[in-house]
Amino acid sequence: MLRLLCTACSRFVCPPARRITAARGGALLAMVAAGIIAASAQDKPTPAVPPAENKPADYAGSQACQLCHEDIFKAFQKNPHHVVETDKKRGFENNACESCHGPASKHTESVSPSDIRQPAKLSPAEADRVCLRCHQNQPTHTGRINGSHAKNEVSCVSCHSIHKNGPNGLVARTPAAVNEQCAGCHKTVWASFQRPFKHRLPEGGMSCVDCHNPHGSLLPRQMQSARGNEPGCFNCHGDKSGPFVFEHGPVRLEGCGTCHEPHGSANPRMLTRHEVRFVCLECHANLPSPTAAAAGNGPLGTTPPAFHDLRSPRFANCTVCHQKVHGSYVDRAFLK
Ligand code: HEC
Ligand code: HEC
Ligand code: HEC
Ligand code: HEC
Ligand code: HEC
Ligand code: HEC
Ligand code: HEC
Ligand code: HEC
Ligand code: HEC
Ligand code: HEC
Repeated sequence: MLRLLCTACSRFVCPPARRITAARGGALLAMVAAGIIAASAQDKPTPAVPPAENKPADYAGSQACQLCHEDIFKAFQKNPHHVVETDKKRGFENNACESCHGPASKHTESVSPSDIRQPAKLSPAEADRVCLRCHQNQPTHTGRINGSHAKNEVSCVSCHSIHKNGPNGLVARTPAAVNEQCAGCHKTVWASFQRPFKHRLPEGGMSCVDCHNPHGSLLPRQMQSARGNEPGCFNCHGDKSGPFVFEHGPVRLEGCGTCHEPHGSANPRMLTRHEVRFVCLECHANLPSPTAAAAGNGPLGTTPPAFHDLRSPRFANCTVCHQKVHGSYVDRAFLK
């Protein structure tokens, strides 16, 4: 094996980081040096062993990688994937590196990057397959295959840095780190969170994954869910969830986004309009809203009774009286 390595090293210049360093101990250096001398003493052009290409690619074992990939090998001891190294059940005992990189004996001899699988250089679908071999039955990945990220070629490794340790290495955990990751691609969404009325994402108090599952979900827009298939908003805004005796049609049927801009708004309460009445009159008016009219529809809701003087400031803020606009247990007009 030593001779093998040395033939290799005499033909390649390893990048400094991967070079066998003094940190690995003088003994090994001495062995390698001896090997190099032994190898160079031979007739150089004659390969010491049959060319690597003729050998079946097989597993070399993680230990073999340590020699040239010291830093990665060391860091890997703290990686959650290190359990693959010792767990008999997963079938990669002592071969954890090769569970993702594939059989590597050919590469350990040739040291050629083209003789080793590098997931970051595969197509997204192929790269995902490497990960999903072990990860596909986990509940967090429901819908992954059909998720928007998978469909749009955003692979696992675009969000997960396998060899990075630390709290936000392999998995972004703190809200700030998650937001930074998502904002990197979703720039316009992030811009909405800079508006005056928004959830506390820019302050790091909340993150995109409080509302979205990056791996896909059973709801549209990869929304997180509450209690099965209800909108994930209810995980925090449970008081809006009901079931109410008197439901307000749009809350239940069309969802929170009918009246709110969940990514942030210029309007108080993250409403879609700058005054509450304009939100309501979109549906509760004699005249259909311009959009409804364009679609050939009349008003959606009932018209306010005649005593509502819609020009008077008294009626500008409908929710002063209709307090339970998300639904009521006692009053069909949502007054209480
Ligand atoms: C004899 C030294 C040596 C050994 C042993 C070795 N490698 Fe490498 N490896 C290299 C060199 C040299 C490169 C090329 C580095 C470069 O081009 O930057 C490399 C590159 C790689 C790459 C990147 C390929 C790419 O396309 O960018 C991966 C992945 C890799 N090695 C994995 C492994 C694994 C896994 C093992 C253990 C099974 C291993 N190596 C053992 C020397 C070695
Ligand atoms: C869970 C899958 C997985 C395991 C296990 C794994 N790797 Fe990797 N490795 C990757 C992915 C994905 C990349 C490319 C993306 C990246 O750099 O994060 C990579 C990149 C590399 C590279 C190239 C780094 C560079 O900077 O170009 C080397 C070398 C490497 N791995 C060696 C190893 C060694 C050695 C082990 C075992 C100690 C190992 N890998 C275990 C998935 C894995
Ligand atoms: C050989 C099986 C195997 C392969 C292949 C594999 N993993 Fe893992 N992965 C595991 C195990 C085992 C764990 C740790 C135990 C657990 O949390 O399930 C883990 C944990 C993780 C974690 C969570 C770490 C944490 O702190 O909760 C992430 C993220 C992850 N893997 C991503 C990937 C990605 C991305 C790939 C593909 C490049 C991949 N894995 C390939 C087996 C695998
Ligand atoms: C768009 C970015 C993104 C993509 C793509 C992605 N992940 Fe994740 N993943 C995350 C984030 C963010 C978390 C942390 C979620 C949390 O804290 O709720 C996470 C968490 C995980 C976990 C830890 C389990 C958990 O819920 O704590 C595993 C395992 C995992 N991902 C594996 C994968 C695999 C396998 C793929 C590819 C099939 C993948 N991820 C694709 C962003 C992504
Ligand atoms: C590498 C770039 C990238 C990263 C990082 C990324 N996304 Fe995406 N995301 C996309 C692309 C591409 C699409 C599909 C096109 C679109 O809808 O913008 C998408 C779509 C989405 C969608 C729309 C789903 C739908 O059905 O319309 C949501 C929600 C989403 N991403 C959330 C997230 C979250 C949350 C994160 C962070 C954990 C994240 N994304 C990180 C690229 C990315
Ligand atoms: C308070 C909950 C919430 C948070 C936090 C949130 N979203 Fe959303 N997001 C939604 C809702 C609700 C929709 C669906 C709107 C609809 O149906 O049109 C959505 C839609 C999307 C879409 C698809 C439509 C579009 O507007 O482009 C993307 C992409 C997206 N979100 C990305 C993100 C990213 C990235 C973050 C973090 C920076 C984030 N979201 C944070 C609730 C949230
Ligand atoms: C992780 C918990 C969480 C989730 C999930 C969540 N919210 Fe919130 N929401 C909050 C908190 C906390 C506040 C108070 C914000 C503050 O004062 O900074 C808030 C405030 C609001 C407000 C009122 C803003 C104001 O000015 O009073 C609206 C409207 C709102 N959320 C709508 C939604 C919608 C719609 C969804 C789902 C798409 C959602 N929220 C999901 C935690 C959450
Ligand atoms: C029919 C329009 C409409 C729909 C649909 C709607 N809201 Fe509201 N929401 C409002 C109005 C109007 C206010 C402002 C109330 C006020 O001025 O006191 C408000 C205020 C809020 C507030 C802040 C004040 C409070 O009562 O806590 C939260 C949180 C909230 N909504 C969450 C939600 C969630 C979650 C959904 C989806 C389940 C939703 N809203 C659906 C109209 C709506
Ligand atoms: C997206 C359209 C829409 C918006 C916006 C909307 N509503 Fe409604 N509202 C409805 C529908 C549909 C009904 C059910 C009407 C029915 O049963 O005939 C309803 C019912 C009501 C009722 C119960 C009385 C009745 O006719 O059963 C009141 C009161 C009411 N809405 C007030 C409001 C207020 C106040 C706002 C603004 C905060 C508002 N609505 C915003 C569509 C809307
Ligand atoms: C000063 C208090 C007050 C304000 C402000 C107010 N309403 Fe009302 N609204 C009422 C009362 C009281 C009723 C009658 C309830 C009943 O008949 O039981 C009513 C009834 C309604 C109804 C019909 C309910 C039914 O049973 O058919 C609608 C629709 C309505 N209001 C919409 C609005 C809208 C839209 C606004 C804002 C432009 C608004 N209201 C502002 C007090 C108010």
